[in-house]
Amino acid sequence: MKYVFTDRMSNVKASAIREILKATADPHMISFAGGNPAAEAFPVKEIEKISADILSHDPISVLQYGITEGDKGLIEAATSFFNRHEQALKDGDKMLITSGSQQIMEFAAKCLCNEGDIVICENPSFLGALNAFKSLGAILKGVEYKDGQLDLEALETILKQQPKPKFMYLIPNFQNPTGMTMSLEVRKKVLELAKKYEVLILEDNPYGDLRFEGDAIPSMKSLDQDGLVIYAASLSKIIAPGMRVACCIGPEEIVNKFTVAKQASDVHSNLWAQKVMARYLTEYDMDAHIQSIQKIYKDKCQLMLTEMKKYFHPEVEYTKPTGGMFIWVTLPKHIDMQLFVKKALEKNVAVVPGNAFLDDDTKECHSFRMNFSTPTDAKIKEGVKILGQLTYDMY
Ligand SMILES: Cc1ncc(COP(=O)(O)O)c(C=O)c1O
Repeated sequence: MKYVFTDRMSNVKASAIREILKATADPHMISFAGGNPAAEAFPVKEIEKISADILSHDPISVLQYGITEGDKGLIEAATSFFNRHEQALKDGDKMLITSGSQQIMEFAAKCLCNEGDIVICENPSFLGALNAFKSLGAILKGVEYKDGQLDLEALETILKQQPKPKFMYLIPNFQNPTGMTMSLEVRKKVLELAKKYEVLILEDNPYGDLRFEGDAIPSMKSLDQDGLVIYAASLSKIIAPGMRVACCIGPEEIVNKFTVAKQASDVHSNLWAQKVMARYLTEYDMDAHIQSIQKIYKDKCQLMLTEMKKYFHPEVEYTKPTGGMFIWVTLPKHIDMQLFVKKALEKNVAVVPGNAFLDDDTKECHSFRMNFSTPTDAKIKEGVKILGQLTYDMY
């Protein structure tokens, strides 16, 4: 039997990261390729306690079907949590609980894009979202960075094009894969452009609470007065990604459409996970929990940067994140990045080739992504030393 797949899936490859992660199953491998929370960052005891309590006192409440919009208790708890520092959910907005924020990316493309429609993304950007958009027939147009910020002129050039792009997908805080953060000024200018050209923004903010340096910058969602922003707020990176709980906040009409898409996709998000999350958010000290994770990632990031400074060739450039989980490393132009990544893998160190995060992965790229949240301190030291040696060997 010859299996025939759709045209729209033909240009979506298995995630390069998932393929590399397969190699990292080898216990000798030092992986800087993932993007997982640190093992010590999970509130295991608390989740165990809440879960046992629900299952012994009110099991049917989590074993029964639920409503598509999400558990009422979680919507209330998540609303006050995501509104605690700024107004993310405003009059005219609605929240939908989704199965991870990955599902929000899928709904955005499913509900807003016809085949061949344009979605603007940062270049590079989060591969999972790019694949979701492509799998639903969208065409990606990447906007590069200039002097450490999104190139607004390049953005406007794409926004002017006809037919008009359907939305811009942006990760303003500690971006995946670069670790960079969009300044307040650029956020405001992007909003002005969105208003001028009437193009929606899908603001993805899974890392916002993982700031370990400097002051928080308001989300574009909180700055928006014109119903231009759909906001993806995930609990994956601050509580537990395996529970698959995220919140989509946006103008009611859009969220209602996403809700219909969700009915066709998975009916509702896992009810056990939603009820446990609701109780965790309300019964425990979230500020203390978040501060403890920020400390873990601050230490790991500093350690990785210190080791990189010690061992990497001085002509290798890299971002210095103030939060999140990633560092973006750029090799001198004469070093073949793909070969570098291959040789690193042969020496049992995994990093992700940067071209995997581009709107078109055949474009020239000299960068790769390193993750500091998952590896232990010992592995960070060992792995960075090996990569550092390679930067000299291949120079
Ligand atoms: C930028 C970005 N958005 C969304 C996601 C997906 O997160 P979730 O677990 O909420 O689906 C990730 C996961 O790595 C991410 O890096």
